[in-house]
Amino acid sequence: MPDQYAVIGNPVEHSKSPLIHAEFARQTGQDMVYSRLLAPKDAFVATANAFRARGGRGLNVTLPFKEEAFRFATLLSARARAAQAVNTLKFDGDAILGDNTDGAGLVNDLVRNLGCTVSGLRVLLLGAGGAARGVIEPLLERRPAQLVLANRTPGKALHLAQGFAGVPEAVTYGALVGRAFDLVVNATSASLAGELPPLPPRVFARGALAYDMMYGRGETPFLAFARGEGAATLADGLGMLVEQAAESFFIWRGLRPDSGVVLRQLRQANRV
Ligand code: ATR
Repeated sequence: MPDQYAVIGNPVEHSKSPLIHAEFARQTGQDMVYSRLLAPKDAFVATANAFRARGGRGLNVTLPFKEEAFRFATLLSARARAAQAVNTLKFDGDAILGDNTDGAGLVNDLVRNLGCTVSGLRVLLLGAGGAARGVIEPLLERRPAQLVLANRTPGKALHLAQGFAGVPEAVTYGALVGRAFDLVVNATSASLAGELPPLPPRVFARGALAYDMMYGRGETPFLAFARGEGAATLADGLGMLVEQAAESFFIWRGLRPDSGVVLRQLRQANRV
């Protein structure tokens, strides 16, 4: 029987992960099946355990279970600890290994697909929830000139910043007036609601890259704003999705698929 993997979430029916992993498996000749696993909101652990009992080898974890998966894991990677959330579980005998590949997914998309090294850049990260927390450490590892966290609710950004070495600067949107950044990453949930974080004009420096971690909704208000403000490059989160999947695949199978090919395929399919 092929090795079993799945993405667990609620909702999960629109997840592109099965498509991505099927392509990775085909590319690398792995005998595996990757499906969708819908867990009731109050039954993540029971659903994950049942999958494991059926011989499941690993899970990707999506909303709203990433924090619960963090508590479910018996062994955590440094990345998962920094993120305080788990998006990848690997079942290894009695051990439940928990990792988080979201931040590496963002950074790999920036570096490999968008040609943005992050190093030496002025970076602005919008939001102070779980999505922002997961990418701070991997961004800091690339040694940006600055990493500034902006959030509507200032206390949340301050609290978040304090959890990281070097304590990134935490500000409100109003405090961004007169400052410019080379890379602006939207990790808020504003795009989900069709909203725009209250950015002042001129936060995009010449040649800036605007990155929205959201994907699949056309041009978000954030990317439309960035375009109007003259940002040189606009990127949605599809590349991050494919790259985080590639990193999970590596954890499970020890092989690195060609993520660039899969990203191009997905973009082409979306255009149709
Ligand atoms: P997630 O786990 O996806 O990060 P979350 O923990 O609910 O979700 O966090 C959502 C983030 O998006 C928060 O930083 C939130 O700002 P507040 O902390 O001030 O609530 C931010 N957010 C949501 N809608 C927003 C909007 N319209 N403008 C700016 N920030 C917004």
